[in-house]
Amino acid sequence: MNQERVHTASPDFIAQANIKPDDYRRMYRESIENPDAFWTNVAKRLDWYRFPTDIRDVSYRPDDLHVRWYQDGRINASVNCLDRHLAARGDKTAIIWEGDDPSKSERISYRDLHARVCRLANALRNLGVKKGDFVVIYLPMIPEAAVAMLACARIGAPHCVVFGGFSPDSLGTRIADCSPKVIITADEGLRGGRPVALKANVDKALQRPDTHTVETVVVVRHTGNPVNMQSPRDRWYDTLVEGQPAVCEPEVMDAEDPLFILHTSGSTGKPKGVLHTTGGYLVHTSFTHEVIFDLKEDDVYWCTADVGWVTGHSYIVYGPLANGATTVIFEGVPNYPDFSRFWQVVDKHQVTIFYTAPTAIRALMREGEAPVAKTSRASLRLLGSVGEPINPEAWEWYHRVVGEGRCPIVDTWWQTENGGILISAIPGAIPQKPGSATLPFFGVEPAIVDNEGKVLEGVAEGNLVILSSWPGQFRTVYGDPKRYKDYFTTYPGTYFSGDGCRRDADGYYWITGRVDDVINVSGHRMGTAEVESALVAHPRVAEAAVVGFPHDIKGQGIYAYVTLNAGEQPSEELRRELVAWVRKEIGPIATPDHLQWAAAMPKTRSGKIMRRILRKIAENAPEQLGDTTTLADPSVVQTLVNERLVR
Ligand code: WT7
Repeated sequence: MNQERVHTASPDFIAQANIKPDDYRRMYRESIENPDAFWTNVAKRLDWYRFPTDIRDVSYRPDDLHVRWYQDGRINASVNCLDRHLAARGDKTAIIWEGDDPSKSERISYRDLHARVCRLANALRNLGVKKGDFVVIYLPMIPEAAVAMLACARIGAPHCVVFGGFSPDSLGTRIADCSPKVIITADEGLRGGRPVALKANVDKALQRPDTHTVETVVVVRHTGNPVNMQSPRDRWYDTLVEGQPAVCEPEVMDAEDPLFILHTSGSTGKPKGVLHTTGGYLVHTSFTHEVIFDLKEDDVYWCTADVGWVTGHSYIVYGPLANGATTVIFEGVPNYPDFSRFWQVVDKHQVTIFYTAPTAIRALMREGEAPVAKTSRASLRLLGSVGEPINPEAWEWYHRVVGEGRCPIVDTWWQTENGGILISAIPGAIPQKPGSATLPFFGVEPAIVDNEGKVLEGVAEGNLVILSSWPGQFRTVYGDPKRYKDYFTTYPGTYFSGDGCRRDADGYYWITGRVDDVINVSGHRMGTAEVESALVAHPRVAEAAVVGFPHDIKGQGIYAYVTLNAGEQPSEELRRELVAWVRKEIGPIATPDHLQWAAAMPKTRSGKIMRRILRKIAENAPEQLGDTTTLADPSVVQTLVNERLVR
């Protein structure tokens, strides 16, 4: 176990903090003892057409499963992110865009953002998009990504953002899942100086018969390089919004109307469309954003995530803009043009709050302190971490080198399904222990259960479940209610996170990682089954099994075992071909780090692959293989051990 160090924010930080040390326990108690009163009060932070009186209607009983918050409330998310700020904050910067190319940046005021959103919202209506119609957004990290999300929210069209790093096939699967009329994309993205062929990827995805619902592709001119435009389907964004009025009547939405779906990996090959609704999601994201990031009017807030992930939805777009904050949208990567880039951007825009992933910290840490020390970072006052457990060494480096010991760190645990943060320090109120996400946010009742579902008290280790509901919780898996139910039936009456967890004597939570067939690669969730189905789709592959293994930078890496069809011979060339194949099928984030040939897989007599054994081999821990006597043919294990790729 790691040596536990406790970091408390400085007296200066605490003196200015929104939430003081005594507030946390009191507010937490109120939120648990009287949730309706607590969440009624919190809902007042937003502008409603009709303020809700029915605050919470939740049942985790499998035969009556439903989660509803503020259901008689009426609201529009884009109005809360834009219109209501115009009077007092019209000239305030809403978005600072920093391009991949360090010479390119732009500031967009709330007034200007409002106008841009209205123009696009009008254009979408003209294209026939109505309340309830899905719109797929496949854009790089440019202001239009936020504009597109808010324009959809304005007209009640749920969006489905697809990460720009996904392949045509992954994009096609997501299009097929929600049947949009319109896709918004760009000619190309730009990352680390290299173009990403977004429009060409859309063209390929639209060749699939199951994506036929798409009538219009709206294309942002970004790099300006030539792309194929197919008339009348493809329309340039700039000509489409030109001449549109800069005002647009918002759709009055029910609190429980869908705001968006976002796909995430599960333990089968098909990604799940996690559905979030409007009122509760916006209450939760804006409230957590203000409290956990100790938000002040003059902050410049930067979350380095991509809008293709939930972190970008909740903590680049909806939370910060609902709060009238200044949010940075960064197109680039941490190492371009060099390893100082993050800190140069911090200095350039005087960023005060910085939120990133442990994998980025570890990658920067490996380059040493010099690239950090070259920059000032004097504007920084608070740091955040998200996406995977942060190892205490990386935490200490982040704290000491990046924050110069001055900035508290909030390690925020949550998931796509959660909508917003559930377990995190509140910087002035909760002392931090490196590696622990610390204590539950208001209203959140975590519990640790053993494999039989028994709730463990006190110091414990087991499976992390949540007993309560919170406003930003997902409402279903789009088109697949059975998979939604699965979350509540593993340990009946609770929401099961899929994570393992330990609770220490102070009640602090330490997330230990996934306990299901999902691995966390650089803070991105990847289903092993997704990589396996990509591999077996190759004509020369008979069978594949994929497991995670500890990786210095990525947290977990992808380790694939592959059995070829009879008569096929393994070769270095084929290995490279298969790795490239997975990249092409899913996207670069799914690239296997290791691919080992398996003449045969270790299987039980009933034919089930024993992943436990494959995991141990990938972890280079053959001495911990455990009992192999139930295998149909125990001899296959020795061959796999002898040929293992990590030593
Ligand atoms: C999984 C959720 C919503 C955040 C972005 C990832 C892991 C996330 C932490 C943290 C330890 C974390 C969990 C979780 N995770 N944050 N602070 N400490 N683990 O969202 O793709 O839905 O993945 O990320 O394993 O289950 P996601």
